[in-house]
Amino acid sequence: MRHEAIRSVEVGGAAPYRIDIGPGLVYDGALLAQRVRGRHVLLASDSNVAPLYAAGVREALHAVRPELQIGTFVLPAGEESKTLAHFGDAIEALAALGATRDACVFALGGGVVGDLAGFAAACWMRGVDCVQLPTTLLAMVDSSVGGKTAVDIPQGKNLVGAFHPPRAVLADTDLLRTLPPRELRAGLAEVAKYGAIRDPLFFEWLHAERAALLAGDPAALAQAIARSCEHKAEIVERDPLEKGERALLNLGHTFGHAIEAEQGYGGMGNDNLNHGEAVAVGMVLAAKLSADLGLASAEDAARLAALLGAYGLPTRIPAGLAPEALLARMRLDKKNVAGRLRLVLWRGIGRAEVVPDVDEAAVLAVLKN
Ligand code: NAD
Ligand code: GLY
Repeated sequence: MRHEAIRSVEVGGAAPYRIDIGPGLVYDGALLAQRVRGRHVLLASDSNVAPLYAAGVREALHAVRPELQIGTFVLPAGEESKTLAHFGDAIEALAALGATRDACVFALGGGVVGDLAGFAAACWMRGVDCVQLPTTLLAMVDSSVGGKTAVDIPQGKNLVGAFHPPRAVLADTDLLRTLPPRELRAGLAEVAKYGAIRDPLFFEWLHAERAALLAGDPAALAQAIARSCEHKAEIVERDPLEKGERALLNLGHTFGHAIEAEQGYGGMGNDNLNHGEAVAVGMVLAAKLSADLGLASAEDAARLAALLGAYGLPTRIPAGLAPEALLARMRLDKKNVAGRLRLVLWRGIGRAEVVPDVDEAAVLAVLKN
């Protein structure tokens, strides 16, 4: 049953798929079942999301396909679970299910579940289907789309992973009602990123609609998700493996990942920044560095900081993180080539670019300020 309020974004390329956005999607058994080719489903989720939604998804699927064998895998909630050890647990769950090559992994959760379960799907029998059921705003606008899957290791974020595009993405906007406000704000950082890197009009809209977005207004959120997915789809369709323009989606991420790795992963229940918050700080630092290098105006950097600040996001590096240690982390970024710092910087709002061989002294100066 398709609902009128559903918006769809097609992702083209070698492995095309559709992103559906709207209310009620994860309980639409027929829609879920369309994506299942075989008899085995692993429903992967985390300890916050599973009690809220996993039973409903399972029942909806079973109502339409009673013969399906549905296993459940529940990860302890939080970034600290995105590890090789828990990846191994997901693989064990697929093995226990007896999952064959036509199995399907449903990733019901935020980016942590999506990245880890997607990586398990990429590796089990060298690749089985994965359907992304994102439950955070961040996952709906970014991590569920484009096929990047990974886990963290102590040396850095997302250093072990694979490109494995999903078979479908079903972004059920009803699920955002239970999302903690801090996580909603974290998602808004990634939404703002699309305006910052390629869409000045969207940037303006995000500023004008900030109260509605922060209040969780369904229409405003659906519009923000759809526009973000259109941007992401356009980029990953042209550059699925990040050989070129996809790197622009990482504005602020080299700084942000360094902060996350240096503070220790986490966010809920402690003072550490979560991923979206770290990206917010990182984007402000990238914009400041761009201004320092004469690429962009300081006014545009201030406008970006103002938007993120209006969303209640942090815009400064947390106290206690040493600039030299952050720089050392940045040297391990996947975008670097031949030992040179390669960063996404910008020419102003809506105009990001990859800058190879960025002067480390300039980066250190921004980290110190
Ligand atoms: P997350 O998955 O940790 O979710 C945040 C918190 O919200 C968790 O505690 C979770 O249990 C809870 N939660 C999720 N949905 C909920 C709901 N509907 N109701 C109540 N609670 C809910 O974090 P995230 O911000 O979604 O994702 C961050 C991760 O995504 C990072 O690991 C980051 O590296 C990754 N990421 C990947 C990509 C990619 O392209 N693959 C892009 C961006 C980010
Ligand atoms: N979130 C960055 C990317 O998907 O490339």
